[in-house]
Order: sequence, then structure tokens, then C-alpha cells
Amino acid sequence: MIADTTFPVQYEQLEKVAKHRLPREVFDYVQSGAGAEETLRANRQAFEQWKLVPRFLKDVSHLSTQVKVNGTEIAAPILLAPIGMQGIVHEEGELATARAAAKEDLPFVSSTVSSYSMEEIAFASHGTKWFQLYYPNDSAIAKSLVERAESAGYEAIVITVDTTMLGYRERDRSNRYSPFLLGKGIANYKADPVFNERLSLSKNGSILDEMKKVFYKPSLCWEDITYLRSITKLPIYLKGILSAEDAQSAVNFGIEGIVVSNHGGRQLDGCLSSLDALSSIKKEVGDELTILFDSGIRRGSDIVKALALGADAVFVGRPYLYGLAVDGEVGVQQMLKQLKEDLFISLSLAGVSSLKELNKEWIQRA
Ligand SMILES: Cc1cc2nc3c(=O)[nH]c(=O)nc-3n(C[C@H](O)[C@H](O)[C@H](O)COP(=O)(O)O)c2cc1C
Repeated sequence: MIADTTFPVQYEQLEKVAKHRLPREVFDYVQSGAGAEETLRANRQAFEQWKLVPRFLKDVSHLSTQVKVNGTEIAAPILLAPIGMQGIVHEEGELATARAAAKEDLPFVSSTVSSYSMEEIAFASHGTKWFQLYYPNDSAIAKSLVERAESAGYEAIVITVDTTMLGYRERDRSNRYSPFLLGKGIANYKADPVFNERLSLSKNGSILDEMKKVFYKPSLCWEDITYLRSITKLPIYLKGILSAEDAQSAVNFGIEGIVVSNHGGRQLDGCLSSLDALSSIKKEVGDELTILFDSGIRRGSDIVKALALGADAVFVGRPYLYGLAVDGEVGVQQMLKQLKEDLFISLSLAGVSSLKELNKEWIQRA
């Protein structure tokens, strides 16, 4: 176990230690983006291009980072992004992550392709949890997954809309590495009654072969979202929205929220940075739904920028996974603690006395 004092403070150092701990192909899988990684780089460049405009001589002594997201008060506007197959970086995988998130009073968004089933994760941690759905090409399985999430106590469904198929990930292809094909993300399918019915009717009885048949849904469209809306009471968030038009459609379809995201640069390479998409989306939909954001958050000041451009809260991805790789549950918790403290200091120094007042007056393009 690493004491607080030796845990890397700098993101770059955290990534370096994680790299040292992980097999090369696993680190590449986590760190890389799709294609030439143009979007992966653009995500970070955008943060450097937007600059904060601090205000001084304001009383910031009563600042609280607490916010209400999806009706629940949480410690800071930070959620842990859905990251699949966490067992490849640490044997306790999502169980450790969910426990660390709960200790820091931040919600954990659990992936469809987790290494443990959603019920096992719910049993391990009583903190706030949401379920991320990769919409399968079989609506009965989609329904079953959502109903299981609802009964296991997950508080929202995040439907990832940018993954109708896997992005063209050149580094993984070069390494001939796919944790999915190694069966690292099958726990939720393995535990699913409807999927098991399908499996019992299949010829060779291989979970992975059967899962490959139904996992991706290139035909995913708004009618599927409407269907899910009709079968669950849980709030729905669409993850992967990048255009003002799609955000407006989400409002029209009565969706509770969106996650402005390009999947951390892992899906369509060459698409715009998530931060650059944010202001036009905010301008289009205003306060008509909850706007969450991810792709490129590394430090507290990044979160301040995303909030100033219109996000209500952010998802953080790779940083916590590196924390998990470095020191399991303790590593995730330490990373989250550091990010929260950095956020508090950055908000205070920007002259934000309450999260409610933070808006685009605080930011300008360099
Ligand atoms: C290794 C890895 C696995 C991921 N798995 C999923 C997943 O299962 N479902 C999903 O919706 N997004 C997944 N994502 C995307 C994240 O939810 C999030 O959009 C992205 O990591 C945010 O960018 P950041 O890593 O720069 O913070 C994954 C990202 C990484 C790095």
C-alpha cells in the first residue's frame, strides 16, 4: 500500500507509474485513442486554448463544491466515467473503484462490460451508482439489463450512443490486443437470464460467440431510446453527444441529460474536442436538460473550465483507472481526493463564491 505522500500528485507522473505497473498492451489499451489520435490530442489542446478569467476581492470563504446531480447531493461535480473491464488493471476492478467512489461521496457509473456483474458491484458498495448501457442488438436483453440495474439500486441509465461499433484503434490492432475478445467484460451477460436463454438455444454454447452476435447495434436510433424510456422509471442520460442538433433532439425526446463526450478520443478520430462542442450545446439547450461532460479532464482547473462553458458536472476517466492500476481502491480514492482539493482551490482562486454563479463570463478563448 502506498502512503498518501508517495502517491503521484501530478497526472503525468501517475500515468508514468501506471505504465510501469501494467503490461504494455494493457497500458496501450487504456491510454490510446482511435486512428491517428487526433481527437485524443485535441481534447487536451482545447483545455489549453480556453483560459479562465479570475475575479478578485470577492468573498470565497463559504465556497462549497457540493452539488445536486440527478436529484442526489454529492461532494463535488465529479462522477467516475464508465470504464469497462477494469479487471485488466487490478484484480478487484470495479469493486475497488465503486468502494473508493463511495468513500469520496462521488457517483460511480458502471459499464455494461464490467469485470464483475452489476449485482456484485452493488453489493460491494452502497454509494451512488449509475448503469451505463451499450445497447444490445436484442431489445429483450436491453430490457433485462435495465431492469436488473433498477432492482440492484442503480439510480440512472447512461446510454452510450457513440459506440455502434468499436473505433479503429490502431495501437490495439498492432498489439493484437482486445480484452473484449479475451472475455474480460462478460460478467453482466453471464449473469443475465434473457441472455442465458439465448445461449441455451445456441449451437456451440460459447458465451463470447453469442455475445459477439448481439453486443453491437449499428441500427441504434431514437426509437430504441423511446422504447427504453417506456420500460424504465430511471432517468436516462445519452453519452457521446457532440452536436447542438442531437442535444436538442434529446430535449425533444424528454431525456433527462446528456454527456458531451467523444469517448476520450477512442471512437471517431478526427472529430471535434469535447470541450469545443460544449458551448454551442449549452447555447442551444440552456437549462432544458442536465449537461454532463467528459474527455480530457485531468486537473481541477479543467473542471472549472468545463463548468464555465456550461457543464453541470464532469466525468473523469483515465486518471482514476491509473489510480486503480497503481494502488487499487486506495489509489482511486487518493486520486479523487487530490482532484477534489485541486478543484476547490481552483474555484476559490477564480473567485467563484458559489458553483451556481459560474458561467461563461469566467472563460475566454486564448
Ligand atoms: C480503458 C477505457 C475503457 C472505457 N470503457 C467504456 C465503457 O465501457 N463504456 C463507455 O461508455 N465508455 C467507456 N470509456 C470512455 C469513458 O467513459 C470516458 O468517456 C472517457 O474515458 C473520458 O475521457 P478521459 O479518459 O480523458 O477522462 C472507456 C474509456 C477508457 C479509457
